[in-house]
Amino acid sequence: MTTPIVDFLYSYEKNISLRLHMPGHKGRFSINPLADCHLMDITEVKGADSLYEAEGIIAESERNAAEVFSVKHTFYSAGGSTLGIQTMLTAVVGEKGKIIAARNAHRAFVNTCALIDADVIWVTGENADVISSSVTPADIEKALSKEKDADAVYITSPDYYGRIADIKGISEACKKYGVPLIVDNAHGSHLAFTYGNLHPIALGADICCDSAHKTLPVLTGGGYIHTNSDKYASLIKEKQSLYGSSSPSYLILASLDFCNFTLHETGINLMKMRSENMEKLKSRLSPVWSFIGDDILHLTVEAYKAGLSGYDLSERLRENGIECEYCDEYYVTFLFSITSDEEDYDALADAMEKIIQPKILIRKDETPFVLPEKAMRIREATFSESEKIPVDNAKGRICAHNITHCPPCIPIVVAGEIIDENSINILKRYSICEINVVK
Ligand SMILES: Cc1ncc(COP(=O)(O)O)c(C=O)c1O
Repeated sequence: MTTPIVDFLYSYEKNISLRLHMPGHKGRFSINPLADCHLMDITEVKGADSLYEAEGIIAESERNAAEVFSVKHTFYSAGGSTLGIQTMLTAVVGEKGKIIAARNAHRAFVNTCALIDADVIWVTGENADVISSSVTPADIEKALSKEKDADAVYITSPDYYGRIADIKGISEACKKYGVPLIVDNAHGSHLAFTYGNLHPIALGADICCDSAHKTLPVLTGGGYIHTNSDKYASLIKEKQSLYGSSSPSYLILASLDFCNFTLHETGINLMKMRSENMEKLKSRLSPVWSFIGDDILHLTVEAYKAGLSGYDLSERLRENGIECEYCDEYYVTFLFSITSDEEDYDALADAMEKIIQPKILIRKDETPFVLPEKAMRIREATFSESEKIPVDNAKGRICAHNITHCPPCIPIVVAGEIIDENSINILKRYSICEINVVK
């Protein structure tokens, strides 16, 4: 597999001694600890192509990525899945559309709905909590049969805990109603390399975005949009340029470029090894610890079942030099990479085996998540005059700004919804004390 962006940057660095162009570090701040990065951090000079008008090395590298991911079209993002979500929704839904969406969407989705003035019909599934959604094909089919004018269905899978939705079943429901399926696959770039290819496009999604930087060896900000549709593909660059910086980072593009080489040579083998590592890790820990989620690179431990809060468990691991991806009162999520080492799994197992737990179930009876009532469109509320008030005084007021706990940045209350007792309890559970409401 070729690596045209990396090759260009190498030759540029060798042949050009005076950079009279952006960026301002000029590739030579020798006392700066980032000096090595500066060497390859360039702008759209001759031969370097241009992300939103790609015809040269970037276009070639994107074609390589499409081949590696077994899809018809892949487009790079230097703004992660956030830019991917903005681009997909604008290309597929456009202005003032209607979207049926699983509620556990990232705030990038809701923020984009404010920008394009989309109306969102939320689906929660059974036993919904804020982070996870168990939305099934039947839930989506039910919503589609009611919302005959829906322009798209939007699913987030895997979720932050590593739970994977039935994308194949959901895509069949969407096809039955002729509605496109958009998937936020931010946590699942690696799914294209699992046994049987579990990537959303392989399972029937019309378009998806991946945060390459979450589970692949790619710099933060690196992402993809994948689609098999020529129609959507023809719109991506133009829509992406509405939101993205006109100076996308060549370091990010180069890391996406080199990742193609890694995945092409070894992607499937690496995922096979990670799958074995995860199985071994779970069997070492399972006499004491239990888990949720099915993804191979996410390990979500039900800390509370072992008598610890997620915060306590993460703190004890931090004392051993191990930092998790996410923790809350009940869970801790560890995120591995396609290029993790066997030693990483052993180190986590060793550290967890040393933790002594009281073995008392500490889950309280929490208020279940119930969809708040909608009073305004997301856009109208987002752009209204607002004021910040204590959550305790917010009952009955209309939310003006999506309230999320970060990570995982999933809205508890969405702009335009009426804040009720239930929402207030959940906001307080996440230590959110103030909220912006419509004046
Ligand atoms: C489900 C989900 N979607 C989208 C995003 C945004 O991705 P990025 O940080 O790559 O912009 C995130 C970030 O954590 C996420 O968890």
